[in-house]
Amino acid sequence: MSPRRILVTSALPYANGHIHLGHLVEYIQTDIWVRFQRLAGHRCVYLCADDTHGTAIMIRARQEGRGEEAVIADMSAAHQRDFAAFDVVFDHYGSTHSPANRELCGEIWAALRREGLIFQRDVTQLYDPEAKTFLADRFVKGSCPKCKLPNQYGDSCDNGHTYSPTELLDPVSTLSGARPELRSSPHLFISTEKLHGFLDDWTQSGGHLQPDVAHWLAGAFLSEPLRDWDVSRPAPYFGFEISDTPGHYWYVWFDAPIGYIAASKEWCEKTGEDFDSWWRNDETEVHHFIGKDITYFHTLFWPVMLKASGFNLPRMVHVHGFLTVGGEKMSKTKGTFVRAATYLEHLDPAWLRYFYATKLTPKLDDLDLNLDEFVAKVNGDLVGKLVNLASRTARFVRESGLATTYPDDGGLFRQAAAEGAEIAAAYDACDFNRAMRQIMLLADRANKYVEDRAPWTLKKDPAKAEELRQVCTVALNLFRQLVVYLAPVLPRLAEQTGRLLGRPLERWSEAQQPLVGTPVGEFEHMMQRVELKQVQAMIEASKVGDESATGQASTPAAPVDGPEPLAAEPLAPMISFDEFAKVDLRVARVVAAEEVPKAKKLLRLTLSLGGDDRRNVFAGIKSAYKPEELVGRLVICAANLAPRQMQFGTSEGMVVASGLGGEDIHLLRPDEGAKPGQRVH
Ligand code: 2FM
Repeated sequence: MSPRRILVTSALPYANGHIHLGHLVEYIQTDIWVRFQRLAGHRCVYLCADDTHGTAIMIRARQEGRGEEAVIADMSAAHQRDFAAFDVVFDHYGSTHSPANRELCGEIWAALRREGLIFQRDVTQLYDPEAKTFLADRFVKGSCPKCKLPNQYGDSCDNGHTYSPTELLDPVSTLSGARPELRSSPHLFISTEKLHGFLDDWTQSGGHLQPDVAHWLAGAFLSEPLRDWDVSRPAPYFGFEISDTPGHYWYVWFDAPIGYIAASKEWCEKTGEDFDSWWRNDETEVHHFIGKDITYFHTLFWPVMLKASGFNLPRMVHVHGFLTVGGEKMSKTKGTFVRAATYLEHLDPAWLRYFYATKLTPKLDDLDLNLDEFVAKVNGDLVGKLVNLASRTARFVRESGLATTYPDDGGLFRQAAAEGAEIAAAYDACDFNRAMRQIMLLADRANKYVEDRAPWTLKKDPAKAEELRQVCTVALNLFRQLVVYLAPVLPRLAEQTGRLLGRPLERWSEAQQPLVGTPVGEFEHMMQRVELKQVQAMIEASKVGDESATGQASTPAAPVDGPEPLAAEPLAPMISFDEFAKVDLRVARVVAAEEVPKAKKLLRLTLSLGGDDRRNVFAGIKSAYKPEELVGRLVICAANLAPRQMQFGTSEGMVVASGLGGEDIHLLRPDEGAKPGQRVH
């Protein structure tokens, strides 16, 4: 089979909020699928961007007293940091607020006009005379017109009634507290009905959608005339002004999906790829991954925009369900609304990647994160069944290396190799749950082999050295084969295994042939067991007061910390304030980071202190950070240290970190809002 050309996107996260565990279902799902396609030898690019426009960002910027651009820049950096930490790796991460996106919006708009799909109509909406803006549904509250329940949003109430915001009783703007007025203004619409026939075909044939999605669209939308889509908003609005209609802006949902194409364009410009061969080419497959709440944007409006403007239609829109925690909706008060960054303070990202993989199927069902099940799967599958295969055998063949011919293993390797095609098919079909179950059955067989042959007993008898080598050769090969199958889910483990056995795991076909006669490296620690109390600490740290009841979050209880770190490194002798003030600590941004060849512990960082002030700093943090996790983040730098000549160059400062070394190194990061160059007092 010749390699496929695949362009993949995940939904663009809004720039007005942080990434949480619910978002990560999709990014982890997509990243696994992309990594699988690459491992299988296909050309696959993965693109994403921040979704930056709309009233919410405009309001947030006003509240924070700064420009929208500053708000979205900070959020983009935070999003990218979170993704990198979960090993979600994009070929390019853009922004919908980019010149490329503005230009493409104009191009697609002109095409929609040419096709006669745009028309104008007056719309009457609630307007806040104090904030001087029209109010989206979520910025107005009042009593439900049907059941009179007070303090309800503009579109639906907690008792499940839906209505128009203009029907709310005693409406109040949540922006200013003013009573909104009704005002009329012209809006621009896309007449989707004109492409009804095309949408019938595209959604109901060709396998572009999961059967449940196609069925839902047919019943809920396509069985009657399609509603026109309101795609403009009057000023003030944070977005792009419509090229031919001054004073009116494209609605955020118009320019957001175009951001997929804009991110591709920027990636093409960066890499020298030909843009048309990715977006105007039948041989390229476009795959979108989205949550079920945004299905109709991607399966009705978006295909219409693409069709009218001659871009590739999606080969497939993959829709997933929502995340529940312990069987319930994520809740801030219960601490189950967990931010990515909070998770990372307590737990290993590989654990979540694996857990989600065991839950993901091509169905739209919601996925449940049951915390006991999470602990059981990490400890039982990853540590108990997988990593133990290597940790119990690798050190016995550290000296001898693997046997030079593959020993008789009773057909275990061959059988697992033969199952590779089925596992691959499960990945390709987004049935990661099936793939994980099959892989764990193989792990069970491998563990039985190790238990039966008990290398730890063979080790005690020098006459059995060759048998020991053979048993470990089999165990490590079975382990390696499992890690190839799990590489899309556990990329760090795959890298470590590649280092252990001296050959990177870059192809699915590596699982077909055993490795023989190669040296075995030092066994690096691969995966820790998780304790339920770590998970509970994460939940505690995520708890906030009941915002709906009080209007504001209450202070979360501080976690209880142990005395060990202070005991491990007692306080230094007292110094005067003047002595302390001599150290000039500054906020700095990491603008580049790379490994230093031959240096075991060092990363070379380029730090920006704002403007043109750049510092070259060598930091002994390689055991805890990957260069790509660091780029973009803020650190604290001791900026007036005398430059130090090192073997690899001059170090012009020092980044400040805590911890005892190894993986226990934690760079200090200032709170949001700090700017490079600011002094730390
Ligand atoms: O629902 C959301 O989070 C949107 N920001 C997704 C946009 S996806 C695409 F269309 F850009």
